[in-house]
Amino acid sequence: MAQVILIEDNKTVNELLTVNMASFLGVDIIDRKNAQEALTLLSILPNIDLIITTYKVNEEETAKTLIEFIKKNKLEISVIVLGGPEINVDDFDFCLQVDNPKDWEKVIQLASQSLGINEDAILKRNTPDYIPVPVKYFLNLDQVNCDVFIRIKKSATDYQYIKRIHNGDTFSRDAIKRYQSQGLENFFIAKENAKNFAIFLSNRLVEKLDNPDLPEDTKIQIMGESYEIAIKEISKLGFTTESIQLTETIVQNMVKTFEKSPEMSSLLHRIINSKTGQLYQRCHMTSIVASEVLKNLKISNQLSYEKIAYASFFHDIMLVEKEELSKINSFEELERAELNEEDWDLVFNHAFEASVLIRKHPEAPTGVDEIIKNHHGTTNGKGFSLNVDKLSDLSKVFIIAHNFVLELLMFKERGGEAKPITEDLLKKYNSPDMVLIIKALEKTLKKKKA
Ligand SMILES: [Fe+2]
Ligand SMILES: [Fe+2]
Repeated sequence: MAQVILIEDNKTVNELLTVNMASFLGVDIIDRKNAQEALTLLSILPNIDLIITTYKVNEEETAKTLIEFIKKNKLEISVIVLGGPEINVDDFDFCLQVDNPKDWEKVIQLASQSLGINEDAILKRNTPDYIPVPVKYFLNLDQVNCDVFIRIKKSATDYQYIKRIHNGDTFSRDAIKRYQSQGLENFFIAKENAKNFAIFLSNRLVEKLDNPDLPEDTKIQIMGESYEIAIKEISKLGFTTESIQLTETIVQNMVKTFEKSPEMSSLLHRIINSKTGQLYQRCHMTSIVASEVLKNLKISNQLSYEKIAYASFFHDIMLVEKEELSKINSFEELERAELNEEDWDLVFNHAFEASVLIRKHPEAPTGVDEIIKNHHGTTNGKGFSLNVDKLSDLSKVFIIAHNFVLELLMFKERGGEAKPITEDLLKKYNSPDMVLIIKALEKTLKKKKA
């Protein structure tokens, strides 16, 4: 990419040129205030391709100073002078002058000539395309398969991308954490690398999660980080071979941690105290609580654990970009939230829409869509209902687990006096089937105290 120094103290002209140079010529613009600053830069970067400068900055003979310097040092740098009286350049061939600095089309035309960019290329050229990738996606990588940039805002419409990690470089988790602690949220990669990066990332996560020597707490942390990546990517791009493989690995790991753990409460404890996001905590805990209740009711088997794990994973996928909305658990709460029409519809229909989405997942067991559709009590996945008698046993168990975990996490967030959640649940759901399920949950909870 060609590098161009721009010295122009008129803000409007400066912005006009910066935006258009970048978008039409795809060059890298380096802003400098005056000749002195430009000379300092030239002493370390003598390979600058072009300087575009105003005639004078205050009392400084900006254009003349720069031309003298280039002549004296025999550099091959062209100079485009904006405005001012005609410059006498003697034997200097690289100088072009534009009478009206606001005539940006003329400036660009001259710049393209002096940079050797032909006009066809200008027409075809678009601004370089980068896509943001959350910094946290890099926490479980020590290498990348493409160049990684950070973005710096240069003006209202213009950004500069600076390469921070080269393709193939190795880096540490601490290095990534340092970016996070500085408040950086996204890295950027070239658009054409997006697909290969996604494949690379999910393969690495699957490799890590499949490692049998990983300590349990580390595993929970990586599962949390992977869950977030998988669910966000799926909600954006739909299912890909890699995201399917990644969900499959996470689901199998959720089932495994449950089967290996003798006591539900200590596992819940570990998850709730891990450094993972709310969304993941709710997902994994719902899966554990529901599986434990199934076990107590003696209606469990490997397949039902898997169904529950898949349902937990995907039930609120429509709300990943608006996490707060996934706490709404009744029609009253929905009305009280005073949402705009779009968000209201999103919440009202999220169970139905997630059930449609999961049917496209080729590995998900049949019947998962039903549990997801029913998770707020309705048969059609729209709205909320406490009348759950017609639903399947798995759906009923899922509803109780889901309610329980929501309350538990809400309590952790709010603090205050602990109250037995199951008592509230008994008031809410009092049909014989539901009472049986809640009693089974109570039994599990009491087990920890014994
Ligand atoms: Fe939920
Ligand atoms: Fe939900």
